[in-house]
Amino acid sequence: MKIAIASDHAGYDVKEQIKKHYGDQYEWLDLGTDSEASVDYPDFGHKLAQAVEQNEVAKGIIICGTGIGISIAANRHKGVRAALCTNATMAKLTRLHNDANVLALGARITGFEVILDCVDAFMGTEFEGGRHERRVNKLDD
Ligand code: RB5
Repeated sequence: MKIAIASDHAGYDVKEQIKKHYGDQYEWLDLGTDSEASVDYPDFGHKLAQAVEQNEVAKGIIICGTGIGISIAANRHKGVRAALCTNATMAKLTRLHNDANVLALGARITGFEVILDCVDAFMGTEFEGGRHERRVNKLDD
C-alpha cells in the first residue's frame, strides 16, 4: 500500500522514525519536510491533501507539533478527512465511523509508542459503512 507522509520541522523526526519503523511494509510517498529547519505547516498539509485529492494515494499521515495546524490545512481540501488522533481508540473509530483518509499526529503531544499504536489502528481498520456512509457523504455536500 502506498502511503503519503508529510510533516513540518516539529514533526520531522517522528516522520523519519515512522518510515524507519514500518520500512518496506508500506510504499512511502514522502512529501517533506526534509530537515528540522523551520517551515510552515500549511505548505505540507496542503501538499499531502493534494496527493489524496488526486488519488495518488488512498491514505496519508501528517505530523506537526500539535497535529492541529497541519490537520486544519489538510481538511480544507474536498474529499480529505484528516483526523487528529492521540490514541489508538480514536484512530480505530475514525476509520470505522468517519472513513478518515489522513491520520494527523502531534509530535510534541503524543509519545512515539502511542503514535505507532495510532498508525497500526488507522492502517488496520476498515470503514464500517452503513449509517456512517450517509454521514460521511454529507461532509462534502
Ligand atoms: C511549529 O512551531 C508549530 O506551531 C506547528 O508544528 C504546529 O504545532 C501547529 O499547529
